[in-house]
Amino acid sequence: MQTLSFPNNRQMPILGLGTWKSDKGEVYTAVKEALKMGYRHLDCAFIYGNEKEIGQAISESIAEGVVTREELWVTSKLWNNSHGKDNVIPALQKSLENLQLDYLDLYLIHWPVAFKPPVFSAMRAQQFTSLADQPIADTWLGMEEAVEKGLAHNIGVCNFSIKKLDDLLQHSKIMPSLNQVELNPYFQQDALVEYCQQNNIHLMAYSPLGSSDRPAGLKAKDEPVLLDDAVLKDLAAQKKISVAQLILAWIRQRGVSVIPKSVNPDRLKQNFESVNIILSSEEMNMIKSVNKNRRYVDGSFFAVPDGPYTIENLWDE
Ligand code: A2P
Repeated sequence: MQTLSFPNNRQMPILGLGTWKSDKGEVYTAVKEALKMGYRHLDCAFIYGNEKEIGQAISESIAEGVVTREELWVTSKLWNNSHGKDNVIPALQKSLENLQLDYLDLYLIHWPVAFKPPVFSAMRAQQFTSLADQPIADTWLGMEEAVEKGLAHNIGVCNFSIKKLDDLLQHSKIMPSLNQVELNPYFQQDALVEYCQQNNIHLMAYSPLGSSDRPAGLKAKDEPVLLDDAVLKDLAAQKKISVAQLILAWIRQRGVSVIPKSVNPDRLKQNFESVNIILSSEEMNMIKSVNKNRRYVDGSFFAVPDGPYTIENLWDE
C-alpha cells in the first residue's frame, strides 16, 4: 500500500481504520478482522471510549503472529480536558496503557478547544477555557516532550485552520507533521490541501464517507447523504465499484490519507481494496464538481451561549 513519509523516514499507510463511533462491543472483532485483512494503520482517540478493546485486539494479534508492532501505525489524540504542557504526558500515558503500547506512531491534539480540567464533556460556558488563557503553544510544549521521551514518534493536530497552523508553526521546535480534518466530496478543503502541501504537513481525512452513523444530536436536519449522491452513484456504477470505494480513491489520489470507519467485514474489505482503484483526471474532476463546501461535523457543540468558542473562531472562517 502507498505510504506517506514522516521525519526519520517513518512510513504511514495512506489508508487506515477509523474507530470513532465503533461500539465497544464491536471494535475488538473489527480490529482483529482488519489486521488479518492487511490493515496496518489504526486511528484511535481517548474520547472514543474504546481504546481498551482496540488494545486487546492489537495485543492478541501481535501474540498470534498476525502483525508485529513495528508493522503497525497507531494514532491517538489528546482530549480537550488535557490541554496545557503538564497535562499532555499523563493523558498520553493513559492512552498507551489502554492500547497496551509503549509508544504511539502519531499523537494529535484533538481540537483547538480547551475544557477546564477535569471536565470531560463541556456544555456550559464556565467549563471552557479560551485559547487566550490556554494557548496552543503551551500544549504543544507537552506534545514536543512526548516526542523527546519517545512516547510519540510524531505529533500533529486535528481540526486546525490555516491560521491556527500558521500560528503553531511559529511556536514549534518540532513541526506538526499532520492535520486531521473532515474532508470528503461535499467538503473538499482545497485551500487547506494546498497550504499543507506547501508546508510539508500531511492531511488525514475524517468522515470520508459522511459519517452517517453519528449520533442524532450531531446531525443537522435534512442533511445530504453523501453515499446517495447521484453523480457519485453513476460514476461508481460505470466503474463497477461502490460509492465508498470511489470516494476513498479520490481522497487518496489527492495525496490525503484517509480513515474510513467500519465494523462490518464486507465493508472493511471493500474499503481496504479501494487502494487499488485509479481514477482518471476526468473522473477526479467529476467528483470535484459535487462539492457543497458543507461540513458534517461543524463543531457547533462547542459554541455554547456566552462561551469562548464560536463556529467562526473555531474554523477562522
Ligand atoms: P459500518 O461500520 O456498519 O460499515 P465515516 O468513515 O465517514 O465516519 O463513515 C462511517 C459510516 O459509513 C458507518 O456508518 C459505516 O458503517 C459506513 N461504511 C463504512 N464503509 C462503508 C462502505 N464501504 N459502504 C457503505 N457504508 C460504509
